[in-house]
Amino acid sequence: MNYIGTPTSRVDGHAKVTGQAKYAGDVNVPGLVFGAVVASTIAKGRIKKIDVGAAHNVKGVLDILTHENRPALPGNDKAWKDDVAPEEGSPFRPLYDDKILFNEQPVAFVLAEDWEIARYAASLVRIEYAAEKHATDLLAARDKAFIVKKPEKPRGDAAKAFAGADVRHEAEYFIPTEHHNPMELFASTVIPEKDGKLTVYDKTQGVQNVQRYLCSVFGKKPDEIRVMSQFMGGGFGSGLRPQYQVALAVMGALALKRPVRLVLTRQQMYGLGFRPASLERLQLGAKRDGALDAITHEAIAVTSTFEQFSRNDIGWGDLLYKSPNAKFAHKLVGLDVPTSSDMRAPGAATGVYALESAMDELAVALKIDPVELRLRCYSDKDQNENLPYTSKNLRGCYEQGAKAFGWEKRNPEPRSMRDGSELVGSGMATGVWEALQMPAAARIVLGANGHAEVSCATSDIGTGTYTIMAQVAADALGLPVENISIKLGDSTLPNCPVEGGSWIAASVSHAIIAVAEEVRAELLGSAQKAKSSPLAGAKPGDVQLSNGRLVDKKDAGRAISIADAMREGGIDRIEKTKAHKFDDVKGYVHNTHSAVFAEVKVDEELGIIRVTRVVNAVAAGRILNPKTAGSQIMGGVVWGVGMALHEETAYDHKFGRIMNANIAEYHVPVNADIHDIKVIFVEEPDEHINRLGMKGVGEIGIVGVAAAIANAVYHATGVRVRDLPITLDKLRR
Ligand code: MOS
Repeated sequence: MNYIGTPTSRVDGHAKVTGQAKYAGDVNVPGLVFGAVVASTIAKGRIKKIDVGAAHNVKGVLDILTHENRPALPGNDKAWKDDVAPEEGSPFRPLYDDKILFNEQPVAFVLAEDWEIARYAASLVRIEYAAEKHATDLLAARDKAFIVKKPEKPRGDAAKAFAGADVRHEAEYFIPTEHHNPMELFASTVIPEKDGKLTVYDKTQGVQNVQRYLCSVFGKKPDEIRVMSQFMGGGFGSGLRPQYQVALAVMGALALKRPVRLVLTRQQMYGLGFRPASLERLQLGAKRDGALDAITHEAIAVTSTFEQFSRNDIGWGDLLYKSPNAKFAHKLVGLDVPTSSDMRAPGAATGVYALESAMDELAVALKIDPVELRLRCYSDKDQNENLPYTSKNLRGCYEQGAKAFGWEKRNPEPRSMRDGSELVGSGMATGVWEALQMPAAARIVLGANGHAEVSCATSDIGTGTYTIMAQVAADALGLPVENISIKLGDSTLPNCPVEGGSWIAASVSHAIIAVAEEVRAELLGSAQKAKSSPLAGAKPGDVQLSNGRLVDKKDAGRAISIADAMREGGIDRIEKTKAHKFDDVKGYVHNTHSAVFAEVKVDEELGIIRVTRVVNAVAAGRILNPKTAGSQIMGGVVWGVGMALHEETAYDHKFGRIMNANIAEYHVPVNADIHDIKVIFVEEPDEHINRLGMKGVGEIGIVGVAAAIANAVYHATGVRVRDLPITLDKLRR
């Protein structure tokens, strides 16, 4: 293999940096109509009256859609459920009725000849509301939390074991609501074609999910709507479900029979899903030697009043640490906000922050080094399932991460290390995520000239999917990577699930390998049509494609070029499409792991925190592309810095409204906040998970980072902050 495992630059990089890559809001067609959304300014209640008169009078306004004049929309929940909608609840339907379910909810949609006109007219729409009492504060509503229907098997008697433990740690941790802030705003351009069909350019992580959703909502046949999303300026989970702008843009295009573009404003992006605020209670009980007796992890997270979104915050301790007694509970509070949603490593980013903060506090109480404590509790099994791992080299992560970081130089005493006026601290945490893989299909068209087009309906949300597809195809077809062109992000291409859950790299790679085998078999058949074929009698399993030739694996002298093989059979191309399904990985669980080490420097007088160094050692099986995979982990670390120190959606609960719905006041790390980040991929051979022995890396990079930083801040200052983000004021209490 020439490309798998080799650092390879993005094959789509040139198109992106030269501006040739077209995003959903970039598509231009003659007669384009521009949309603008009017969003609610209350969190709960009803629309009493909408006055669109002044807006209609603006020259260039074509139409204004509201719940009063919108086209017919289905009334049943099922029609609105996309592939990844929560099981419980009733999905949001834009412009459906007069009910206000959350602040910033779309209540009117202005269509105009120009974008500026649409926005100006939108500002003239007058709405009278009948407001009702709302709730947007998790902490104030925690008593209303209800258990999510999910089996959480307890082990032993955690309460009793905790009460009788030699050393106990109990605390509550809080992670505020965080919003996705992808560079690209949510956008859709909908083009009615001459035959009445719709072509929809949408910002999404799943073109086929959006396609099915739109067909269902608008009563269209599958071939009447085509959804395209060839490039995406950041998803992070915000684009897994169809967002309301795509439904509005379709409504507009159907109403006017003209192409419509709708781009949300940055403020309106805060009216979409988000990482739910969560309150996490941990109880850890241990013997003096550090052996855990009891883990209790309870979480309360935010959802909307109309859907129940939840992810696994609480079960990660079962994967990481041996404990004979354990108890878990996940609860939700329904607030007057949009339904919460997936955001990079949903559940783990928050739950593991709480778990790994608690483990650090336990290590302090036990006077055991934090790495040593984790090694003493190390679990080779998922205790919930009582199953081993397909592979788990977390030990290698601890060892190599600690070595690269220089952990042995650490004085465990808080406030014991300084650098001039700054206190220096170091902390560590474990990370864990799932290694999932899904059925997916791929198509290869191989030409006699040795060029191949490889396609699949997957997205590339910026993770490098184009590139790893090209690498895998190049190796499977024995061609230079330059000879491979990739097509993706089009709902008419072979089936693929949404790009999320870190599952696309494994899913699509194995689909490509499977279809490449069929291409090879057909090429062999074509070659063998010759009277005296050099490969006469060979079976498909006996040959491989290498350097543009079909070669006998045992006798390299028996070979034929792709061009000659096709000529013998009288063909000039081979086209194959294949749906691939993984064999069940029976008897094993499959996860990725990491060990994160962080150094902080804290200005002693001002409390300003700088994360000066991070080492993230990751075990994720075989790494397809160390360059793009390394970028994924680095991006996860940067986001972890944001989670630890900067990010917080700030509500004014009196109005149920977000106060910092912009990227000036919603803080994310900028270049000046980011210093030395080192990514290590530890060796992790995996013979069980799949043929390539690979796992996805899109999400593991963020898990554990916030805890490592919080633990480092404690080590530097002696102050334990248990509510994120750790802002300088909190170090003063
Ligand atoms: Mo990811 S949160 O599964 O896009």
